[in-house]
Amino acid sequence: MERIRSSEITPEHVYLSRRRFMRLGALALGSMALAGCGGQLGDVISQRAAGDSSRPQAAAEDNASATPDVKRDELGNPANSLETISTYNNYYEFTEDKEGVAQLAANFKAEPWKVTVSGLVSNPRTYDIDDLRRKFDQEERIYRLRCVEGWSMVIPWLGFPLAKLLKEVQPKAEAKYVRFESLLDPAQYPNQGPFSLYPWPYTEGLRLDEAMHDLTLMVTGLYGKPLPNSNGAPLRLAVPWKYGFKSIKAIVKIELVAEQPKTLWNTLAPHEYGFYSNVNPQRPHPRWSQATERRIGESGRRPTLMFNGYEKQVADLYAGMDLQANY
Ligand code: MTE
Repeated sequence: MERIRSSEITPEHVYLSRRRFMRLGALALGSMALAGCGGQLGDVISQRAAGDSSRPQAAAEDNASATPDVKRDELGNPANSLETISTYNNYYEFTEDKEGVAQLAANFKAEPWKVTVSGLVSNPRTYDIDDLRRKFDQEERIYRLRCVEGWSMVIPWLGFPLAKLLKEVQPKAEAKYVRFESLLDPAQYPNQGPFSLYPWPYTEGLRLDEAMHDLTLMVTGLYGKPLPNSNGAPLRLAVPWKYGFKSIKAIVKIELVAEQPKTLWNTLAPHEYGFYSNVNPQRPHPRWSQATERRIGESGRRPTLMFNGYEKQVADLYAGMDLQANY
């Protein structure tokens, strides 16, 4: 696909502020990393808004999924196809090229795999991925995934509520947050090499009550099968009311902690990627609107829903917090 220059398709003021941002980026490590998450993302969104259909194949497949037997979320939205879900990915340990992840991840060694659950708990444990699959009933949850970049998918995950795992390790009274860590393995991840500017490993975090919420899912598969490598095999998180970057892949460590943990994107660019990062159409990203999104496989854009459509279930968690603030 021939790349459209962003100057041709972006409104001038957006383009100019992006140039200014990029100049600033040369001065700050955080902004440099955003050449991956932000700069490229901004371009993707602009191209889409300009009608560039960079995923004609996916669109064709997913239109076929508008048939009666297709899986649907609770709002009636058809799930994206397995092909689309596993070949259009954000997985920066491999590459910043969404359509390049699947190929680079093809030989990723997702087994054997262990995950430790430790920190402020009475019963710290190390689980083998198979223990987790056996111990906790695997259920299907069809969730919308809304990326902070302005695109979304509908994904039939397979997994179990994180709450079940946390109850087993018994958080102590001092535990207030959960910190998640992805695999650090430069031998497997080309983008974790010595010159990488990202503060690997990828880390994320949730407040304990968010982690205990029934919607928060430890994911082991999708479409009833083990998780594809490109989607974070063998174990990832799905937190459907938050922007997709909170749903950390390839988890090796879960730690209960007293203080709000540092997370990768929040460390790199705190003014752009807040710790909470709940989907909120009224709160624009500093460089683009979050009012609408493009569902991969559809043309045009659709309105983004408050808390990604899970407002009824989760709004209580944030009673008294200013939803317009960048926490
Ligand atoms: N987890 C790790 N370890 N590395 C990543 O680069 N990307 C995040 C999130 N989890 C990411 C990650 C982002 S930005 C998004 S939108 C989702 O994964 C994408 O999940 P998907 O590729 O399964 O759609």
